[in-house]
Amino acid sequence: MNTLDAIRNRASIKKFSQQSVEKELIEQCLELAVWAPNHRMTEPWRFFVLREESRERLIEIMATDFQSDRNAVENFGKKLKSAPVMILIYSLPGKNLLITKENYAATCAAVQNLLLAAYDLGLSTIWRTGEYYESLKMKEFIGIQENAEFVGAIHMGYSDQIPDKRKRTSFAEVTNWV
Ligand SMILES: Cc1cc2nc3c(=O)[nH]c(=O)nc-3n(C[C@H](O)[C@H](O)[C@H](O)COP(=O)(O)O)c2cc1C
Repeated sequence: MNTLDAIRNRASIKKFSQQSVEKELIEQCLELAVWAPNHRMTEPWRFFVLREESRERLIEIMATDFQSDRNAVENFGKKLKSAPVMILIYSLPGKNLLITKENYAATCAAVQNLLLAAYDLGLSTIWRTGEYYESLKMKEFIGIQENAEFVGAIHMGYSDQIPDKRKRTSFAEVTNWV
């Protein structure tokens, strides 16, 4: 697939089929993710592929945490089960604010690589965020240091959903030649 087409046509997809995704394809996406640009070569990205048992366990933990908010638990549960693959991505901090910021930026670039690689391989994705992923409980559960920054939860799978009509403001409106 042509890079330019992939950049333009990749789209967020929310509905996935039950079809499982071959481990090799997930690994291929991750292998391409780490080719993102990265100042000082800190390689700050950390990936957590959540197995089904882990997702079940997370829903249980969340149900205890948010006893009073059944809707939140239900929605979270639905999202966790919405795709056959779920990858949480965190960025490690640097030794000062600037490096932490650079690390976060590099990890975002890695996420975009992952999305484009998935698209090229015939997989659909959506990048989601949510407060719960930032929580200490979550970080303890997956085993990442407390000061790591949550960057995204990537849901991935096969889908025949036609993406919603996508639009963008023209670059010309947001670009100044100074
Ligand atoms: C940092 C980030 C967080 C996002 N979080 C969510 C989310 O929590 N829920 C959701 O439905 N989409 C989320 N999205 C996806 C955006 O809604 C989507 O990219 C946007 O609507 C543009 O559509 P496109 O990806 O098809 O171009 C997120 C995207 C980014 C970059």
